[in-house]
Amino acid sequence: MIKQFGQNDPKMISYAEVTFSPEEKEFDEIRNRSERAGIPPIHVGPFDGLHLEVLARMLRPEKIVEIGTLSGLSGLRLARSLASNNGRLYTFEYAPKHAQVAEETFRKSGVSEQVKVFVGPALNNLPKIENEGPFDLVFIDADKANYPNYAKWAIKHLKVGGVIIGDNTFGWGFIEDHEFESEAQRLDIAGLREFNHLLATHPQFKATILPTHEGLTVAVKIRS
Ligand code: SAH
Ligand code: DHB
Ligand code: MG
Repeated sequence: MIKQFGQNDPKMISYAEVTFSPEEKEFDEIRNRSERAGIPPIHVGPFDGLHLEVLARMLRPEKIVEIGTLSGLSGLRLARSLASNNGRLYTFEYAPKHAQVAEETFRKSGVSEQVKVFVGPALNNLPKIENEGPFDLVFIDADKANYPNYAKWAIKHLKVGGVIIGDNTFGWGFIEDHEFESEAQRLDIAGLREFNHLLATHPQFKATILPTHEGLTVAVKIRS
């Protein structure tokens, strides 16, 4: 028998939640403050946040890039994973309001000194950090249609051993569909599919998709 993908048993899910306590109290405050600011609650879930932090800490990273800051919840996971006080998280956010809430998150958690937030379309701002590279980790969680563009940037600017992580890569269950509710949805799903395919077949990468609720693509750069 070949063991299958995923874990759907509610008993196993509650076991995991009780045993691993995926979120500390400070994340409640972030979720609440973000909601009060009228920001949609599309942060990574508690377990994907925990996965992100464990994976990030394994890299002992000094330089991390995040594309899609929202309110700084995943950014806090990444910032606290930096290996030293000289480590830096460069995080990119389109919406000024989101960036403002994120700055407050980083300030309250005492990581502001290590985090630089860039406001505007990420593709316009990424060139500003290219001379800080190569990077240890690039976490991609912004507009889905641009995931292939973000991946191409990351492929170029990661060190060997560096990792790309992409959120929502099952496309909310639509990843294999061919009919969509809107053109925007079609473009989002096409972006996610191209992203997964690019990393799954790239000669410089070894990639997998972790079967979390949202799907978390993880790709490590294996050669220059
Ligand atoms: N990583 C966050 C969630 C990100 S949600 C967390 O888990 O806590 C996606 C974010 O990407 C939103 O805040 C949205 O405003 C931002 N975004 C959308 N298009 C973008 C673009 N072109 N450049 C940068 N950010 C973008
Ligand atoms: C949504 C969720 C996300 O994690 C994200 O990055 C963007 C959008 C959503 O549920 O709409
Ligand atoms: Mg996401």
